[in-house]
Amino acid sequence: MKPTVDTKKIADSIRELKERKNAIIIAHYYQTPEIQEVADVVGDSLQMAQHAAQSQADIIVVAGVYFMAETAKILNPSRKVLLPDTGAGCSLADSCPPDKFKKFIEAHPGSPVVTYVNCSAEIKAMSDIVCTSSNAVKIINSIKTDKPILFAPDVNLGKYLIQQTGRDLILWDGSCVVHENFSIDKILDLHAAYPDAKFIAHPESQPHILRIASYVGSTKGMIDFVKRDHHQQYIVATEAGILYQMQKEVPHKTLIPAPAFEDNTCACSECPYMKMNTMEKLESCLRTEQPEIFVQEPVRKKAVRALNAMLKLSAQPAQSMSMEV
Ligand code: 13P
Ligand code: SF4
Repeated sequence: MKPTVDTKKIADSIRELKERKNAIIIAHYYQTPEIQEVADVVGDSLQMAQHAAQSQADIIVVAGVYFMAETAKILNPSRKVLLPDTGAGCSLADSCPPDKFKKFIEAHPGSPVVTYVNCSAEIKAMSDIVCTSSNAVKIINSIKTDKPILFAPDVNLGKYLIQQTGRDLILWDGSCVVHENFSIDKILDLHAAYPDAKFIAHPESQPHILRIASYVGSTKGMIDFVKRDHHQQYIVATEAGILYQMQKEVPHKTLIPAPAFEDNTCACSECPYMKMNTMEKLESCLRTEQPEIFVQEPVRKKAVRALNAMLKLSAQPAQSMSMEV
């Protein structure tokens, strides 16, 4: 896609501001192509957290959603962390309010608490360890306990983890608005039109969607899979923003977004929160150094323990999260 004159002007200004202010942009794969192009790092939630933890930049701009910016601040509190639009939330994080989660923990004394990174700082502060979609199997398998493990907030990832690990998990009932919305009937119709295409899916999708997938994994896992696999066509069940980086990696392969119940204009699934970030907001946030993300120190101190526990385990040689059939 060729940038318009205006987009190019904004991109030039963003690059100049980054250099002058010693700032970096860490973006998620679900961001628009223009934002991915001006970012210093584009990755999944784990890669974003790892880069945020190690960054020496004075300013870290998170082109993603609120919990990602909070994670960056928790891991690197001496840096200024900015998020272009603080309204960029997440249905998973919203499903898990701290007061209700506290009661959930109290109802299961002695159970270890594992939370998916898509949750607020307060929820991380109540957790023993955090996980992302790329390390969740490894993290669940690492826990030694004879008690059930509490897992929040994604019920679909939780069900997938029970199936993959055989462990006893008690699940919070949250879900992602994007991954809950894939239509099995439409996917099967699409597959009939592309019989040679492999179907690949993110583990936030519902069990009946994952059951028909040839590969299940995080956004980075999905990109790595289409790179190493020998097929030529893929139906991709995750947020459509991933197709930009994926297509760059496999320019000669055909990538088809999986259809949702309610088709929007591009007949694919877009996260309304991720797409709140725009080039204009990114430029303005770098210029004004607003909005800045803060996490209260008592909360941060507890949350960083759960995040560091995850980062430590992720650094060790991994049994991969993904499933290939
Ligand atoms: P990953 O990129 O870590 O797979 O997460 C997907 C997602 O939904 C982020 O909000
Ligand atoms: Fe949250 Fe789903 Fe959007 Fe990711 S894609 S930010 S999980 S609502």
